[in-house]
Amino acid sequence: MSGEGPARKTPTAVKGTHDILPGEVEIWQAVEAETKRLFELYGYRELRTPILEHTELFEKGTGQSTDIVTKEMYTFADKGGRSITLRPEYTPSVARAIVEHRLDLHGTPLRYYYIGPMFRYDKPQKGRYRQFHQIDVEVFAEKDAAIDAEIVEMADALLRALGVAETETLVNSVGCRACRPAFSQALRGHAAGVRDKLCDDCRRKMETNPLRIFDCKVESCREQVRGFPKISAFLCAECREHFDSFRRGLDLFGLKYRVDESLVRGLDYYTKTTFEIVTASGGQQNAVLGGGRYDDMMKDFGGPDICGIGFAMGLERLIALLDLKPAPRRFLYVAHAGEAAKAKAVELARFFRRGGVETLIEFGGRSFKNQFGRANKLGAAWVLVVGEDEAAKGVYQLKDMAAGTQISGTPDELIKGARS
Ligand code: HAM
Repeated sequence: MSGEGPARKTPTAVKGTHDILPGEVEIWQAVEAETKRLFELYGYRELRTPILEHTELFEKGTGQSTDIVTKEMYTFADKGGRSITLRPEYTPSVARAIVEHRLDLHGTPLRYYYIGPMFRYDKPQKGRYRQFHQIDVEVFAEKDAAIDAEIVEMADALLRALGVAETETLVNSVGCRACRPAFSQALRGHAAGVRDKLCDDCRRKMETNPLRIFDCKVESCREQVRGFPKISAFLCAECREHFDSFRRGLDLFGLKYRVDESLVRGLDYYTKTTFEIVTASGGQQNAVLGGGRYDDMMKDFGGPDICGIGFAMGLERLIALLDLKPAPRRFLYVAHAGEAAKAKAVELARFFRRGGVETLIEFGGRSFKNQFGRANKLGAAWVLVVGEDEAAKGVYQLKDMAAGTQISGTPDELIKGARS
């Protein structure tokens, strides 16, 4: 066993996380660019928050009875002994930022978007990851249900712009602190009557948050849920009017939707409007985006009494629906041979890049033949030939790889060709 250690294990990505490699990353970039373009047309601005937050933020914001807080957070004590969490969602973070900076006093529209990673320790499967990415949108201080409709329209517009078809928009109202307790009480009573037919999890939810029984995927529970009381019978006048007005707004946009009274969503903060856009093709993880109104979060944070509404779209789920191919890149390959030519080639690469031409130069003393082979394999649009002679004269050959033609000239003359 001379010199042989134990078998070496190569490093791998953490379970439930993914590398996004060149080839795929261009699609992410295109989606991100379209998202920014479109959201800014609606008057939204980007607001970036840290990935790390105090654990308490999500306990208070996302809610103590949610799966996220009870089971899924990446929480650890930092070296100072503080309890820190990798954000599982963005909504409480942006609410915190507003309270912390009193952005409500700045006189700017409180409309924000953000694109970034979120972390949930859930069982990884298709469409569900431990590090995933959300496109998130939040609006504050708009009580009118017209904004609820506009936000759904904006989500829909993004999906259309990206070519996503065959989605269904589900909407509901989960009431407010005034009317929901009576509904929860009625649900509790009903659930108690069929207790034996519910799964352990739902029996627990019966006590903590009976609305969440509507989320259960267990078939026997789903069957029971069909006979449960409906929220629509419990909405107070204000919530009912808000919901009607939201629906009128959707009609005004000509958006199709379905009222789904079991759409309660897995977060504690929702009041009034909830919505999801789902696809037929996503299997169990068929929600591309979900959101709703949360009128009490800021107040509960000890901030101003301003309402909020937003949604988050899962980027992995969105990208899985897209049929986008990255546009082929047009770039220049600088081939060079000899020491003097190398120095000149480096200078020329810089010249072309400054002129806005994507330029690749490789090192390692390869022959011209070899470098042409590389340029061909990599898909270069042009090759600039920099030999000792050319370097001395300051006149170079630019080969158009697709046409097989070649022109010669000074860098100033050739850059026009490489921009075409
Ligand atoms: P959410 O329903 O928990 O809502 O997540 C929104 C979307 O993020 C889901 O519809 C899904 O597309 C994606 N998603 C969630 N978890 C995962 C996962 N483990 N792997 C992959 N994708 C996932 C929220 O996060 C709320 N903050 C939305 C919101 C914003 N409500 C108001 N404002």
